[in-house]
Amino acid sequence: MVIGGGAREHAIIKKLKFSAKIDEIIALPGNGGIARDVQCVDADPFNISAVINECKKRKIDYVVVTPDDPLALGMVDELSEAGIRSFGPVKAAAMLESSKIFAKNLMKKYNIPTAACEIFTESAVAVNYARQCFKSGKKAVVVKADGLALGKGVAVCGCVKEAEEAICNAMEKKVFGKSGERIIIEECLTGPEVSVLSFCDGRIVAPMISSMDHKRSLDGDLGPNTGGMGCIAPNPFYTPEIAEICARDIFSPTIKAIAKEAAPFKGCLYFGLMLTADGPKVIEYNCRFGDPETQAVLPLLETDLFSIMTACTDGALSPDMVRFRAGASACVVAASQGYPGPYEKGFLIEGLEDAEAGGAVVYCAGVKQEEAGLASCGGRVLSVSATAPSLEGAVESAYSGIKKISFQNKYFRTDIGASALQVLKKSPAL
Ligand code: AMP
Ligand code: GLY
Repeated sequence: MVIGGGAREHAIIKKLKFSAKIDEIIALPGNGGIARDVQCVDADPFNISAVINECKKRKIDYVVVTPDDPLALGMVDELSEAGIRSFGPVKAAAMLESSKIFAKNLMKKYNIPTAACEIFTESAVAVNYARQCFKSGKKAVVVKADGLALGKGVAVCGCVKEAEEAICNAMEKKVFGKSGERIIIEECLTGPEVSVLSFCDGRIVAPMISSMDHKRSLDGDLGPNTGGMGCIAPNPFYTPEIAEICARDIFSPTIKAIAKEAAPFKGCLYFGLMLTADGPKVIEYNCRFGDPETQAVLPLLETDLFSIMTACTDGALSPDMVRFRAGASACVVAASQGYPGPYEKGFLIEGLEDAEAGGAVVYCAGVKQEEAGLASCGGRVLSVSATAPSLEGAVESAYSGIKKISFQNKYFRTDIGASALQVLKKSPAL
């Protein structure tokens, strides 16, 4: 059973379907598009006892827990108590994502490179500190809510007023609820960002190919942050030399530290990195697969995903189990115009077969089945991914696919992969 109902879960399901070791896959709750591939069970993925009941009723042998909230709530722990094996970290290890303060303290203690930060529990003290930062010549600070906030808890602030507003939103207006009771104010780093998803079995880290998310809503990296509007893999900024430094200074120390401080991390650990002039630094940990990174990365995975996942659960992972094909991958997200703000939905989606006939793969997110056919029902509606020997080919093919899909209010960025292609043009050796 795969828990979740986004394009990321659809990509995981499509990959798991290749495994000869699986008889049947069920999605909970899945969505109208996922239902074209596997059976979907209509239940609340945040209600752990409801999930366990469904697992027992359907004699589920293995559960893949993908979204952050069920992981932070301890779904993996409770499944294990009920005698059901699963992929994902236990609650204590998931704190790497569910508490930024926990993650920051861990990085500090184990000398894992990250942005310098201060922790605050009172807004007046935080505002004072932010003012001092700008007074002493800092051009920007980053204000982060401690807990989960649907990807909206981070504000990069270029002036005192913005910082005050971000602090007030989190601590006074409580727009993130309990997640914003404590905040951190962090040094603003600059440099290219890289996402590295990795498989972990509690002892070792086997990184997947690197990727580049495109978080802003508009072309040219303008507009507000979203869950992610597209992704390419591998990320050309992430050279083998940088990968070696990250493995030594970040990945390995992190997996050792979390095992010592909380619990062994088993599952997918996502390293959000920034390649600064001072070397790679951790921007954030996520204790799960990224979206849309997964839709770009998994299509290039050559080895059996289910065998890798169960090896993570069993503490029996070896790096040679995780192999990727050469070539490149691109994923473009089709959203409802207006996302991440308010948007209209409920429009019929057409052209999925045409898009796939051209070689692209469509992963559905905010899609539901209506009498007349599939219709949009969310902000990020679907992702279109394609692989090719070159990044240029992958980007072209993903765009050719997404253009064949139509629904009213459809919006997508037109420059996914453009900055990576520029880097490749300048340094063809990458
Ligand atoms: P997060 O939700 O933690 O991924 O943060 C969202 C985005 O905010 C990141 O992808 C970065 O672009 C930006 N960001 C977070 N922390 C920093 C930082 N310390 N310096 C500069 N940008 C940051
Ligand atoms: N793409 C960023 C995330 O999954 O958090």
